Amino acid sequence: MKTIIEPFRIKVVEPIRMTTREQREKILKNAGYNLFKISSDDVLIDLLTDSGTAAMSDAQWAGIMSGDESYAGARSFYRFRDKVQEITGFKHIIPTHQGRAAERILFGLLSRPGTYIPSNTHFDTTRANIEFQGGSAVDLVIPEAKDTQSLHPFKGNMDIVRLENFIQGVGADHIPLCMLTITNNSGGGQPVSMENIRQTKNVCQKYGIPLFLDACRFAENAWFIKLREPEFEHSDCKTISREMFSYADGCTMSAKKDALVNIGGFLAINDDELAMQARNVLIVTEGFPTYGGLAGRDLEAIAQGLEEVLHEDYLAYRIRTVEYIGEKIDRDGVPFLKPTGGHALYLDAARFAPHIPLPQFPGQAIACELYLEGGIRSCEIGSIMFGKTDAKTGKHIAPPLELVRLAFPRRVYTQSHFDYVAEVITEVYRNRENLKGYRFTYETPYLRHFTAEFEPVPS
Ligand code: F0G
Repeated sequence: MKTIIEPFRIKVVEPIRMTTREQREKILKNAGYNLFKISSDDVLIDLLTDSGTAAMSDAQWAGIMSGDESYAGARSFYRFRDKVQEITGFKHIIPTHQGRAAERILFGLLSRPGTYIPSNTHFDTTRANIEFQGGSAVDLVIPEAKDTQSLHPFKGNMDIVRLENFIQGVGADHIPLCMLTITNNSGGGQPVSMENIRQTKNVCQKYGIPLFLDACRFAENAWFIKLREPEFEHSDCKTISREMFSYADGCTMSAKKDALVNIGGFLAINDDELAMQARNVLIVTEGFPTYGGLAGRDLEAIAQGLEEVLHEDYLAYRIRTVEYIGEKIDRDGVPFLKPTGGHALYLDAARFAPHIPLPQFPGQAIACELYLEGGIRSCEIGSIMFGKTDAKTGKHIAPPLELVRLAFPRRVYTQSHFDYVAEVITEVYRNRENLKGYRFTYETPYLRHFTAEFEPVPS
């Protein structure tokens, strides 16, 4: 077996700035030890997110030039719509400026107090949009998802028994829709099997509940199905995607992930009445239905990106990259969420730095040290992002997993960048006893991870 190489050559380059550890110590201190507050110019390798950070192809840039900027009926809209329909099969395709705009329109119409929206795991913006309208977002992923060392091949699966019990418990009338996030970002970029999508569909159908996919990373999910579900070994990823979408009544999509663009999204719906209502909201808040908050050139780039993302040499390289870095750090005993998922490596911070108590944020200690050691920006997904303080006792309530996410921008970094990242992680792990906890010096009540400031806890 030969090395799986980057299936592209590089036509445009963007320099990255080297800094010294001494400089980074100052930069981090000035940012209140919050990596969201650092200028990207001060980051060497930016693994904060895989969202909107892809490198576009020459064909996508050509699309940017040929985009039709007409207000109504733009040629670029039709190309976009036809491509989305070719892959998803949905009837109504509604462009939005990004994924959460599609969520806001959908849940503005369907979520209200007394409703419940079950999912394998809702992403934060999905949960926020449901709860903002007064509904309840419910996560029903299989129990294996909570064990970072379980090698279950589809750790993003819905727990079908819990789903059915839940529907019977609250009553189908209170469930306007059910969702599946493919792949399951909050649970480690883990895929959902075709079998599980079919089973979820069967339960939904039995109770007359529509099923929607949060399809941001649908192509990565399709590739895992091809690799891990024998039935699909010989199917191509477009056919697999078509089948995944065929079980759903609609989807929300952030094109900033698997459409390989820097901005964009869409809402797709089969139901005529719901689509009409969604377009009405779209016109009020996003724009006319043939551009929906995007420029014509963005629609061109999305249409082209959706074609490219399903190329199997791209998907093989994409998923192999995450697996490759996982194999490297595994040899040095670094604890991480296994098996590696689609778009990111998730370090298991609780095992990595067990000497730091959870209320002192072991994930943050690791994320800060990855920056100090190697200029790498990652993201704590643990007690800072999802932890709470008990109002009565003042005690810290930790989320189920304490993780640090290193998300991989698409087609941006090469193998030697990832070799470097593995070296830095290993070095930080080797010196893990020196890691110190952090405490807040400034904290806001909502989404505190974006704006909080910290200081190291003296030993
Ligand atoms: N759903 C999932 C599963 C996501 O991962 C995201 C974004 C969204 C919806 C919202 O899409 O950003 O276009 O509004 N995830 C990014 C991340 C921000 O870093 O994981 P958006």
